Amino acid sequence: MLTKVKKGWELPESAATDESVFRSRRSLIRGLAAGPILLGAPALLMGCKEDGGAASAVVAEATANEVDPSASLYPVTRNLRYRLDRPITDEELATTYNNYYEFGSSKNIWKKAQALPLRPWTIKIHGMVEKPFEIGIDDLLQQVQLEERLYRHRCVEAWSMAVPWSGFQMSQLVELAKPLSSAKYLRFASFNDPDVAGGQRAGWYPWPYIEGVTMEEAMNELAFMGTGLYGKPMPKQNGAPLRLVLPWKYGFKSSKGIVEVEFTDKRPISFWEEIQGGEYGFWANVNPDVPHPRWSQMTERVLGSDERVPTLLYNGYGEYVAGLYSGLEGERLYM
Ligand code: MTE
Repeated sequence: MLTKVKKGWELPESAATDESVFRSRRSLIRGLAAGPILLGAPALLMGCKEDGGAASAVVAEATANEVDPSASLYPVTRNLRYRLDRPITDEELATTYNNYYEFGSSKNIWKKAQALPLRPWTIKIHGMVEKPFEIGIDDLLQQVQLEERLYRHRCVEAWSMAVPWSGFQMSQLVELAKPLSSAKYLRFASFNDPDVAGGQRAGWYPWPYIEGVTMEEAMNELAFMGTGLYGKPMPKQNGAPLRLVLPWKYGFKSSKGIVEVEFTDKRPISFWEEIQGGEYGFWANVNPDVPHPRWSQMTERVLGSDERVPTLLYNGYGEYVAGLYSGLEGERLYM
């Protein structure tokens, strides 16, 4: 069973497909509609089984009839404290090249993700808190200060993007939850609905998707709860209506589709850690000097360009977060 799951993460399409290949496959698929080249390309078709095509047009069509009730809140004011060292990634690319295993292990899940109903959407806050409660996403959005932040995003697969997230600082969620002093960690659970998310019918994955951070990490100013992207409500494929954004950690720490936050004194075991603990750990801080067991983390491929750039310690956010890890040198901080 474990071997099978490990292969899921290793799937060439998800872990190893170069984005330029991915893009040219999509062009190829557009071309295939017209020609006999089809016969020569069974492998490519396998790789593209989750659809290619005119992405933005289809996304627009899929979402046109569905107005997100939070739409009037956006765009929100950009917080200029957080600046990028590279151009913002093209919106179409950031919203059509995704990891969301609930909808499949391909990068091309954006269309399938449109099946996720976003309302009602209730978040359960419980565990070591003064009083457990449930809150609807629209009530939550009224109780927090929304802002926009430009952050880099570095996937453990060694690709990266830079996007304008909308949302609120995670410390605001902690303040609303009123945790007890005994709480040391936040454990986040994503939705679990195999009826809408085909990937969750794959029984060998330990659904729901779980991630966790320490209280100190949650209170760090960089830790962010994403509710929007590119000045609009969060697209479903990017984690609507609520996801984590932890820019100094590998992207798999930034859970999408969150429905539950538990305050606990036990370190959460995350989804990928449970599947393959030798490769994915709790901390998962970005570090170019610590290779993934199967590939180097020295450089990253910037989505939308053919450029590889050096990866930076803590993804370049060391001035904000390095202090969180002093005294923890004995831990696997970078896996
Ligand atoms: N959250 C859930 N619930 N399920 C997932 O499969 N994938 C993670 C993370 N959050 C994932 C998830 C990984 S591996 C990455 S790199 C980022 O989401 C990708 O975010 P993006 O698609 O918005 O770029």
